[in-house]
Amino acid sequence: MSGDNAEWRARSLAAVWHPCTQMKSHETLPLVPIARGSGAWLYDFDGRRFLDGVSSWWVNLFGHANPRLNAALVAQLESLEHALLAGCTHRPVVELSERLAALAPPGLGHAFYGSDGASAVEIALKMSFHYWSNRTKPEKRGFVSLEGSYHGETLGALAVTDVPLFRATYAPLLMANAVVPCPDARRMTETRSAADIAIDAAAALEAHLARHHATTAAVIVEPLVQGAAGMVMYDAEYLRRVRALCTRYGVHLIADEIMTGFGRTGRLFACEQAGIAPDFLCLSKGITGGYLPLSCVLSTDDVYAAFYADDAARGFLHSHSYTGNALACRAALCVLDIFRDDDVIAANAAKSQRFTALAAPLATHGRVRHFRHQGMIWAFDVATDRPDFARRFFAAALERELLLRPIDRTVYFMPPYIVDDAEFALLVEGTRAILDAE
Ligand SMILES: Cc1ncc(COP(=O)(O)O)c(C=O)c1O
Repeated sequence: MSGDNAEWRARSLAAVWHPCTQMKSHETLPLVPIARGSGAWLYDFDGRRFLDGVSSWWVNLFGHANPRLNAALVAQLESLEHALLAGCTHRPVVELSERLAALAPPGLGHAFYGSDGASAVEIALKMSFHYWSNRTKPEKRGFVSLEGSYHGETLGALAVTDVPLFRATYAPLLMANAVVPCPDARRMTETRSAADIAIDAAAALEAHLARHHATTAAVIVEPLVQGAAGMVMYDAEYLRRVRALCTRYGVHLIADEIMTGFGRTGRLFACEQAGIAPDFLCLSKGITGGYLPLSCVLSTDDVYAAFYADDAARGFLHSHSYTGNALACRAALCVLDIFRDDDVIAANAAKSQRFTALAAPLATHGRVRHFRHQGMIWAFDVATDRPDFARRFFAAALERELLLRPIDRTVYFMPPYIVDDAEFALLVEGTRAILDAE
């Protein structure tokens, strides 16, 4: 490798259009050139290091350049890198589908693959709509999502997303969608618990479905934690009620576990924490441990049966060239091996308790509001009037060897699971110092 940070920054800004970025902001905000990664750390070309406190956009579970994942991929490369999945199949995709079906909430035995998270959401939306059409109810074509929801940036996923910054410009292109209240646990008061807030929000959904179920295909939710809304957390009672309402009104439930899946909220899938099974389960991000783009939609026998027919057009004719990529599936199988062999869910439960204790100085900090925690996610809102808080915090964190990207005024930690106590303490101490200095 050659060149220093300055060279890679200049070349990148000349040639690469970076995602989710007003490129002009890089006139003043540092672009971080990454030379390599190891464990929870990323290293730049000038020899500085940064603790990856956001798991590289919520994808990394077991660290960068993980030796087990590396070895699994090298072995897979020796036999098959990719083959088309229409008309063909291969070992990694079969094994992965079998294992996901066994691990997911009951009844989700059919795996359809995409690449990024948004492609899984598109698949679930299209499948739900097409299911109702195949069942001679084409009028059931509406979708319901939650206030503050985020399901991705492609046009279908954006239509069920409620983050104005991402959505507003493209609104004329988006299909109509109903938005219902979010059971945000921050609305708790002395007399009203998170479960009470959840019950109220479910009542609002019920009112909507009572009127519109005949024209509604599906309700889509991010179970337990709405990531892009700013790590908004809510009580599992909401999910139980949504499941019951969807069943009662004959509407699909799509669980978007693209961020929450693979142990983030404390169980392998957040739906488990509510004891529910959706009709569609969307998975991505951590599925390959942060190595390769892969997404998957698991669906029920009932959904699958609605497409199974002599007529080609009744089938789900959706495809992407890299559907079920063998290398990505191999990485996902290795991730599942690590969960099993290292008893990751139990280890994370103990870690999560220790980390929450380590974060106590933040929970009681004078500028911190609504400190919250779920599994391997910690978040809080900062009392500040500065509209550029997130950007300033990001730059200040880099100065302290931390890679953290607040969402508006919400600071969160979502580290890879291999982060140790001393590394987590660095996140806490650095954040406290930044808040004190602001
Ligand atoms: C809940 C949820 N759904 C969907 C997506 C979109 O995934 P991707 O960015 O891989 O398209 C994200 C990404 O952050 C997400 O958090």
